[in-house]
Amino acid sequence: MTYTPADLEKKINKAIEQLDFDRSPKSLFEPIEYILSLGGKRLRPILAYMATNLFTDNLEKTTDPAIGLEIFHNFSLLHDDLMDNASVRRGAETVHTKWDANTAILSGDAMLIDAYNCMMKVDTELLPRILNVFNRTAMQVCEGQQYDMDFETRLDVNESEYLEMIRLKTGVLVAASLKIGAIMGNASEENADRLYDFGINIGLAFQLKDDLLDVYGDPKEFGKNIGGDILSNKKTFLLIKALENSNKEQNATLKEWILAETFDAEAKINAVKEIYDDLNLSRLTNKLIQKYYLAALDSLSEVDVLDERKHQLLNYTKKLMNRER
Ligand code: IPE
Ligand code: IPE
Ligand code: MG
Ligand code: MG
Ligand code: MG
Repeated sequence: MTYTPADLEKKINKAIEQLDFDRSPKSLFEPIEYILSLGGKRLRPILAYMATNLFTDNLEKTTDPAIGLEIFHNFSLLHDDLMDNASVRRGAETVHTKWDANTAILSGDAMLIDAYNCMMKVDTELLPRILNVFNRTAMQVCEGQQYDMDFETRLDVNESEYLEMIRLKTGVLVAASLKIGAIMGNASEENADRLYDFGINIGLAFQLKDDLLDVYGDPKEFGKNIGGDILSNKKTFLLIKALENSNKEQNATLKEWILAETFDAEAKINAVKEIYDDLNLSRLTNKLIQKYYLAALDSLSEVDVLDERKHQLLNYTKKLMNRER
C-alpha cells in the first residue's frame, strides 16, 4: 500500500509529540518544543517516508531519520530567522523574538545535536551511508546560508550564482530526505541517486516559490511577514531579474532603495514590488518553477519502480508546486 501525505503527517506529529522536552534548563528545551509544535508542512519527513514507501510497505525504520531531518530543518529555521531578522514564522512569533537571540542560537545548537541522535538510531549496516549523506548535506546548507548572507551586500549576483545558492541552502536537504528515505527502503544506489536528483529539482522550484510568496503571498496563509526579502536586500530570483531587466529609471529607483540606510519599510516594499509588477516577474518566476517541476518529473520517471507506487509522490509534488503556504 502507499500512504497518503495526511497519513504520514499524522505519523510524524505523533513521533514528535513523543519526544521529551520536559527537561532542564527549561529555557533551553521549551523553545525547541515550541518551534516543533508549530507544525509547518513537514515536507522533508513526508518525502523521506514517501521515498521509502516506493520500495516497501514497512515504514517503521524511516521514522528516526525522518524526525532527524525535521529537527535539523527546524534548527536551521531558528538560526535563519535570527540571520534574516524575521519576527513571524508559521503564523507565530519566531524564537528569537519570543525569547532572545542567545536562545535561538543555543536551542538551535541543541536541536542539531538531537537531529544527530535521531540519525544515530538507524541500523548499523546503513549508518555510514546515512551519515555520509546527512553530513555532506548539513555542511552544504551552511554554505548556502553563507552565500545568501554574502549576496545581501552585492548588486551583481547573477542567475547561476543564485541557483547554486538555493541548491545549497534548500535543494540539498529536500534531496537528502528523499535519498535517506530510499536508503531506508533498501533501494539500489541508482534509484536513490535518481530520487536525489528529483529532490534537487523540486527543491529549486520550492525555493523559487518561497521567493515569490515572500512578495505576493497572503501573510495569513504563508505564516511569515511579506516583504522580508525586499527589506534585507536578499538576492532573490525576482530582485536579480529586476536589476537585469529594468529600464534606466527603474534601475536607479531599485538601487536607491537597496542602498538606502534608513527608510520606511512599507514604502520600500511597495516601491520594489511595483517594479516587480511592471516587469511581470511573477510570470517569469513561475516559468522557471515549471521548468524545474518538469525536470523533477523526468528524474522520477527514471526511478525503477512500478508507476502505481509513484502516484502519491507525484500528486504531492504537484500540489507542492501550487502551494500558498
Ligand atoms: C522554509 O521551509 C525554509 C525554506 C527552505 C523556504 P518550509 O517552507 O518547508 O517551512 P515549514 O517547515 O513548512 O514551516
Ligand atoms: C531558508 O531560506 C533556507 C534555510 C532555512 C536553510 P529563507 O530564508 O528564504 O526561508 P524563510 O523564507 O525564512 O522560511
Ligand atoms: Mg529566512
Ligand atoms: Mg534565509
Ligand atoms: Mg524565504
